[in-house]
Amino acid sequence: MEIKDYLIKTNSPEETIGFGTVLGEHLEPGSVVALTGDFGSGKTCLTQGIARGLNVPGHIYVTSPSFTLINEYPGRIPLFHIDLYRLENESEWEEIGIDEVLSGEGVVVIEWAEKVCHRLPREHLLILIDTISDNSRTFKLRGHGEKIIDLVNHALAKWKAKDN
Ligand SMILES: Nc1ncnc2c1ncn2[C@@H]1O[C@H](COP(=O)(O)OP(=O)(O)OP(=O)(O)O)[C@@H](O)[C@H]1O
Ligand SMILES: [Mg+2]
Repeated sequence: MEIKDYLIKTNSPEETIGFGTVLGEHLEPGSVVALTGDFGSGKTCLTQGIARGLNVPGHIYVTSPSFTLINEYPGRIPLFHIDLYRLENESEWEEIGIDEVLSGEGVVVIEWAEKVCHRLPREHLLILIDTISDNSRTFKLRGHGEKIIDLVNHALAKWKAKDN
C-alpha cells in the first residue's frame, strides 16, 4: 500500500493530549507507534494522550521510563511505553525483551524510535514531531501497513470533526 503522510498541527500541550487521545481511542492490540522528535518536542505529551485514549486510569501519571526504558500501563489495551534515549547498544534491546513486547497484544509507543528503525515491525505508525514555536508542534503521520493506515484515517476524521 502506498505510504501517505498526514500533517497535524497543535498549538498547546492540551491540544497534543487531545490529539493523542483520539489516536489512542482508535489503536488496536499490536499497534506500534514510533515517535521521533527533539527534546521537548512533545513525545511524552502525545503518549499521555494515547494513554488517555486507551483508558489508562487518570490517577496514573504517564512519564518517560528512565532506568527501565520501558513502562507498562493498564488500559483498554495494555500500553507499553518505551523510551530509547538511554539505549546504548543492541544487546540491551534483547535484555529488555522489546521484540517480545512488539509482537505481543499490547499497544507499544516508542520515543527516540529513529535509533531502532531497522528493528521496528513492518506494520507501524511513524510520527515525526517538529517544534514550530514555543507552543506549536507539527506531527507528520506516516502509516506503514494497511491496518494502521485505516485506523489513522478514522482517528483523523474524528479529530477533524472535533476541530469544527
Ligand atoms: N503543542 C504542544 N504540544 C506538546 N507539548 C508542548 C506544546 N507546546 C508546548 N509544549 C511543551 O513542550 C514540552 C514537551 O515535553 P515532552 O516531555 O512531551 O517532550 P519529549 O519529546 O518527550 O522530550 P524528551 O526528548 O525529553 O523525552 C512540555 O513542556 C510541553 O508543555
Ligand atoms: Mg519524553
